[in-house]
Amino acid sequence: MTAELSPIDNAKYAAAQRSVDFVESGMKLGLGTGSTAAWMVRCLAERIRNEGLKVTCVATSKRTADLARELGVTVVSLDDVKWLDLTIDGADEFDPNLNLIKGGGAALLQEKIVATASDRMIVIADAAKEVAQLGAFPLPVEVIPFGWETTKALIEETLYSLDVLNREVNLRLNRSRPLRTDEGNLILDLNLKRIGNPRQLALVLNQIPGVVENGLFIDICDVVVIGNGDGRVTVRDINSGRVEDTSIDLAQSANIFAELGD
Ligand code: A5P
Repeated sequence: MTAELSPIDNAKYAAAQRSVDFVESGMKLGLGTGSTAAWMVRCLAERIRNEGLKVTCVATSKRTADLARELGVTVVSLDDVKWLDLTIDGADEFDPNLNLIKGGGAALLQEKIVATASDRMIVIADAAKEVAQLGAFPLPVEVIPFGWETTKALIEETLYSLDVLNREVNLRLNRSRPLRTDEGNLILDLNLKRIGNPRQLALVLNQIPGVVENGLFIDICDVVVIGNGDGRVTVRDINSGRVEDTSIDLAQSANIFAELGD
């Protein structure tokens, strides 16, 4: 079976394939969540199968853990290892300082815990995720179910004192019912259009009772790997300032897709 992949899938695959070059045998590795991270898990599984790479992984969601185990990747809990060498994850937006919006897949809480518990975080993304300023993508905020409407009202009130362009807050639904995260919490999506001061917003949101965590990742990401539909990949390291351009052979993507399934 061969699969014809869309340019966006090729871009995700290219970023994912380049990112697993950073994985070394013996590493403790955080596995992100989302469609780009799923490609990375497939590429990692290929390296484990072909090269006998030995890694111990912590997943950021149940669905990533299920996919990884299905592909023969060893998954343990964060409490088993406590600290990680590297986390590779997707993002919904990244800015020039490699600050991120995450949580489009509702996994932001585990993603932030795992990324923060890692020496290094690499974000893998297609080129469309790059923005000059964060905020076009609605910012996910995880809240506990108890009193969530009060928490929502408090968030709306707080937004009036902050530098954002729009102040619409929506409860995320899944098939017309409130979506529940892996922790059983709810997600509020903040449609802000433009976030003037992401650092301040991240701090202020987390001070509101009922808010568990927000999807702004500030000073957490070290490297972004940006994929394009034609296989070109740019690696940007925020600490060293190094930028590297390479190209990935896309012929492999259809093989991995066909061999490992989606
Ligand atoms: C999951 O909660 C998110 O943080 C994802 O990492 C993010 O939404 C990117 O997902 P895609 O790779 O599917 O775009």
